[in-house]
Amino acid sequence: MAVRKLAPEEMQPESFVFSSETEAFAEQQIAKYPPGRQASAVIPLLWKAQEQAGGWLPRKAIEAVAARLDMPDIRVMEVATFYTMFNLEPVGKYFIQFCGTTPCVLRGAGDIKKVLEKRIGEQNHVTADGNFSWLEVECLGACCNAPMVQINDDYYEDLTTENFEKLLDDLAAGRPVKKGSQIGRKSSEPVDGVKTLQDPSLYDGSQIGAWRKRFEEQAQPAATGEAAAVTASVPEAAKAAKPAAGRPEESNAADTPAKRAKEGEAPVKPVDQKEASDASRATKVEARTEDVAKPAPQSGKSYVTTPGKDAVPTSPTTPIAGTPPAQAETRHNGSESKPGVTVDKDNKTS
Ligand code: FES
Repeated sequence: MAVRKLAPEEMQPESFVFSSETEAFAEQQIAKYPPGRQASAVIPLLWKAQEQAGGWLPRKAIEAVAARLDMPDIRVMEVATFYTMFNLEPVGKYFIQFCGTTPCVLRGAGDIKKVLEKRIGEQNHVTADGNFSWLEVECLGACCNAPMVQINDDYYEDLTTENFEKLLDDLAAGRPVKKGSQIGRKSSEPVDGVKTLQDPSLYDGSQIGAWRKRFEEQAQPAATGEAAAVTASVPEAAKAAKPAAGRPEESNAADTPAKRAKEGEAPVKPVDQKEASDASRATKVEARTEDVAKPAPQSGKSYVTTPGKDAVPTSPTTPIAGTPPAQAETRHNGSESKPGVTVDKDNKTS
């Protein structure tokens, strides 16, 4: 990218004042933002000032925008010199931005460039009549219709040497010109006509948008189609649930005074009730001493070895407290922890 700096002093006008139209535009743009945030309108105001100045931004125009937005001059200068949409030197009445990026070059942009050089001269040079100047820029986003140029605010596409020469002639003569494709192409359709997406079924709703038809069917009283099938599957009256479904079984076995009275049983007399509640008259049961002394089993399993015919008691596996290790019988054969295992005098297990 070329160095972007302000035009030489001899090109700069001595003053710049907003026209009434520019001032009205400025007010409208500033009103879009909250008080104190008017700097957000800097780009629209620079754009409008450029338009008023004839397509470029003199130093005085930049300063006028800064004053209008209550911004330091340098802050507005930074914006103006950063964006290539702002021209910092005078341009022709018809400012041509020529796309020199690959797709356009592959489609013949080189020939268009030769026309520019022949008719106008070098870039950034304004013709003697003030009508034309041109600048090579990067892709302008119309690659489908390459090669192309932008003249002021409009695109001119599908250029050839011939139609571009004629375009320049018409502009210079003030004749109306055709914007967009110069070969009659519609938008960005294929240059030799539409050859895809031509099946009529794509547009009759049978494929794309079929869901809409289904929705309409469901919204109407179901007579046919999927909606009818859904309706048919719903029973007209819900079946009653099983009488006991989800409820606890009711039993007749409850033993209540009301039930006993109903069955003819005489109710308990109050005096009997009082006697029954007297603890001193309760039957006393003596505890059996052998039952008390007997420790309650901790579980249903017994880990006591069952004596066999020739069994002899095995040595305890835990030495007696205080017994020196050398005197303690610590031989283990594994039978100690196995229920029902006996060891005979030859130390054989069975
Ligand atoms: S390359 Fe030229 S418009 Fe994109």
